[in-house]
Amino acid sequence: MAENTAYDLVVIGGGPGGYVCAIRAAQLGMKVACVEKRGALGGTCLNVGCIPSKVLLQSSHHYHVAKEELAEHGVKVSGVELDLATMMGRKDKVVSDFTKGVEFLFKKNKVTYVKGAAELIGPNSLKVDGKDEITAKYIVIATGSVSAPLPGVEVDEKTVVSSTGALALEKVPASMVVIGAGVIGLELGSVWARLGTKVTVVEFLDKVLPPFDDEVSKNAQRIFEKQGIAFKLGHKVTAVKPGKSGATVNIEPVKGGDALGLEAEVVLVAIGRRPYSEGLGLEAAGVRIDPKGFIPVDAHCRTNVASVYAIGDVIGGLMLAHKAEEEGVAVAEIIAGQAGHVNYAVIPSVVYTHPEIASVGKTEQQLKADGVAYTVGKFPFLANSRAKTSGDSQGFVKILADKRTDKVLGAHLIGAGAGELVAEIALAMEFSSSAEDIARTCHAHPSLAEAVKEAAMDVAKRAIHI
Ligand code: FAD
Ligand code: NAI
Repeated sequence: MAENTAYDLVVIGGGPGGYVCAIRAAQLGMKVACVEKRGALGGTCLNVGCIPSKVLLQSSHHYHVAKEELAEHGVKVSGVELDLATMMGRKDKVVSDFTKGVEFLFKKNKVTYVKGAAELIGPNSLKVDGKDEITAKYIVIATGSVSAPLPGVEVDEKTVVSSTGALALEKVPASMVVIGAGVIGLELGSVWARLGTKVTVVEFLDKVLPPFDDEVSKNAQRIFEKQGIAFKLGHKVTAVKPGKSGATVNIEPVKGGDALGLEAEVVLVAIGRRPYSEGLGLEAAGVRIDPKGFIPVDAHCRTNVASVYAIGDVIGGLMLAHKAEEEGVAVAEIIAGQAGHVNYAVIPSVVYTHPEIASVGKTEQQLKADGVAYTVGKFPFLANSRAKTSGDSQGFVKILADKRTDKVLGAHLIGAGAGELVAEIALAMEFSSSAEDIARTCHAHPSLAEAVKEAAMDVAKRAIHI
């Protein structure tokens, strides 16, 4: 427990929103504590989210490449075997290195790490584990989110799992039904499909990755189907019945039609996440929540109580680690009297499947709905020399620019390295660049980034290599 319990700022939750906010506030000279109840810093992201999922995506990709793709490069390997325990052990080690890394950063920045569950008892005070009282001029709530439950379906993390269980299976299941063709469904579905599981994804809507650009979603679905993942789009789950060795997932078409029973050794429920604010004592502090459990905030992430701010998944919007981090930095700066700000129009989203899928700004369907006149520039990786030399040339880069001003309004990518390439376009958008600005920037050859340049050139219909 902290030796002096009066702080300038107490942050509740040590995830990417909370820990980044705490460190930035300490950098700005505040006396800061961060309360975390999980027993490790880093929140969902480091412990059971971004990091372990990316470790398993990389490891399973290596396995798949060794088994299926190296031969065409003239590299002969025989007897490729999966050692799942080692793969999982490496994942756990990466996670613990990172969570300890955040503890180190707290020490370096003199942030007090308070282990326990925080409960507000007033607008400037809280209790930890029901006893130790802490006061602070400001409190930032960064308690994150948890998996949304499917009504009537019990998650036991063995047969019926959430993302947390799907990151820790002890053996490769023969079959898996994934409920939800969102980011978690496709990332973790890919991991297990690569390791040998027969994966079927059931999605309520009629496309995979619903918020993404339609063209990207269609292309992604075709590629995933080639990888052996089956889709039941436009279907709803009516029941999940656990049996002796697995479960039956009953589904029926949303628009009506014959019901179907899918047998699976493991069922992954990945239908979104909900804000987490249980046991937080919001009523005691007078902090309002909305009917869905999100904490409403103003443009400065301030709640209805002047001394209490909220950031990250618990306030809604894109539930992404980097969005939470941006809010953490902005709030620390606002509390310090600076002009902290988050540009919500330029937050990239990346799906770390193979190929990667990335997006920033407006989709074509959003621009159409908003009545904005736009031009499309597109370039396929098939015509990109680096992608061809690597033997990894699926997908394309698509840039949307304002028809009148040429300002970049959005970009949608599917292809190897898309998650890195989107950063260039996000930076361009932050600088209000035109497509021509990107097109006239020299890009190294041969590089995947040349596909971004050529897509920008294609906005003016002057791409060279297609
Ligand atoms: P969290 O990370 O959820 O942290 C909140 C913390 O608050 C938790 O550690 C919790 O224990 C603590 N807490 C809650 N209540 C209390 C209390 N009363 N007292 C003390 N502590 C409390 N996002 C990406 O951007 N990229 C990705 O690749 C990505 N992959 C993901 C993969 C999976 C499988 C999942 C589930 C999520 C993924 N996300 C990804 C989303 C990302 O993890 C979240 O958006 C991010 O963690 C939100 O950060 P946060 O700080 O708001 O909350
Ligand atoms: P999601 O919102 O991405 O996808 C959920 C999907 O489930 C949607 O397509 C939805 O239409 C569908 N669905 C909802 N109810 C359903 C039902 N009853 N039956 C069938 N389908 C149903 O949510 P997901 O995948 O659970 O991820 C949660 C959050 O975590 C996301 O908001 C995402 O931002 C974040 N995340 C981010 C990652 C990344 O940035 N790479 C990786 C993993 C998660």
